[in-house]
Amino acid sequence: MLNDILPLAPTALRHFANPRAEHGPWPERLDSVLDQAAFDAAGAEIRRWEGYQPTPLVAIESLAQAAGVTWVGFKDESSRFGLGSFKALGGAYAVLRLLSRETGLDAASIRGGGHAERMKSITVVTATDGNHGRSVAWGAGRFGCRCRIYIHAGVSENRASAMRALGAEVVRVDGNYDDSVHRASDDAEANGWFVVSDTSWEGYTELPRYVMAGYGVMVDEVIDQPGAAEPPTHVFVQGGVGGLAAAVAARFWMRFGASRPTLVVVEPNRADCLYQSACNAAPVCVDITEETIMAGLSCGEVSMLAWQVLETAVDHFITITDDNVAAAMRFLASVAVPGAAVEAGESGVAGLCGFVQTATDPALASVIGLDASSRVLLLGTEGATDPEIYAELTRAG
Ligand SMILES: Cc1ncc(COP(=O)(O)O)c(C=O)c1O
Repeated sequence: MLNDILPLAPTALRHFANPRAEHGPWPERLDSVLDQAAFDAAGAEIRRWEGYQPTPLVAIESLAQAAGVTWVGFKDESSRFGLGSFKALGGAYAVLRLLSRETGLDAASIRGGGHAERMKSITVVTATDGNHGRSVAWGAGRFGCRCRIYIHAGVSENRASAMRALGAEVVRVDGNYDDSVHRASDDAEANGWFVVSDTSWEGYTELPRYVMAGYGVMVDEVIDQPGAAEPPTHVFVQGGVGGLAAAVAARFWMRFGASRPTLVVVEPNRADCLYQSACNAAPVCVDITEETIMAGLSCGEVSMLAWQVLETAVDHFITITDDNVAAAMRFLASVAVPGAAVEAGESGVAGLCGFVQTATDPALASVIGLDASSRVLLLGTEGATDPEIYAELTRAG
């Protein structure tokens, strides 16, 4: 029984089956958002970076058995480039592409160094709840430009100091994530700095497109990884601004066409902009009044580019409460894999919570098509990115 291995509180879950989901081949109209060439270029570049290694794909047999499905795979991003999250693939890659655009130098010569003065004249800025900023700061440090990171009131001090340690200047802004996005953009405009954002808006799409293309590396690894002999039938992916979900959806759809997996986006109920947008059939801004514990997912505005993919690539949108996050983290910490347990942070377990709550609700499981033949992919998008919060949440219980 699922409840024996992962006891979850019976808490509210909202579900919206997307009537606009499409299941034909990858639609050409979406090539303007993300195409094969963008994914290929990002993959070829990122795989050349020092320290690149595919992250583990852990098959959690006990969970598959208890949930009555064939396979559950957990892509564990906690070790990605030593930064603790999948975001390492996106922001840093966009920094490189920006530097290349601004200097006219190709990626190889920027990667190789030797243009210190030129690089130092460029400043990149971004707003972040932690993980994207860490990636941008790391990319800036690696490629030699300056970096300023804007964080909102709710971002933990540990996350701020991790970015300072990578050489970034960190600015704390009153308000929530969306306020920090606007302030970063205003300051950049006034000072001739460059915004490297993981979210996009009207007129600002070039760099977020690179960010999403970088995330595709994670999906390509899953598909090519031993243990994933057959593609998943279902992917439960957590949503913030939607960039991750759009990249994952696009990559699977491009590779498998009409037999793409069923895509389920899972969000915190306190920051449910994707769910609300789906219900409304158009982007909706959500006012975040209370912060969710899943800090990386605390976004009230959908990425415009991401939405163009998500509106037809996602089959189901669900929202979860914070109540089961700690239990899911503790469960993963107890899963023995060769050499270690699985370390997953608060935002990294939303997909797992969504999957388990779905599997324990027969009516919902049936609507989502979960059955004994299902192969379920979960994306463990972060490790203990704030070690104190991680220790506190995994200790209790
Ligand atoms: C750990 C983690 N998972 C998932 C996400 C969601 O990504 P996106 O905002 O692109 O939807 C984030 C965003 O910061 C994150 O930090």
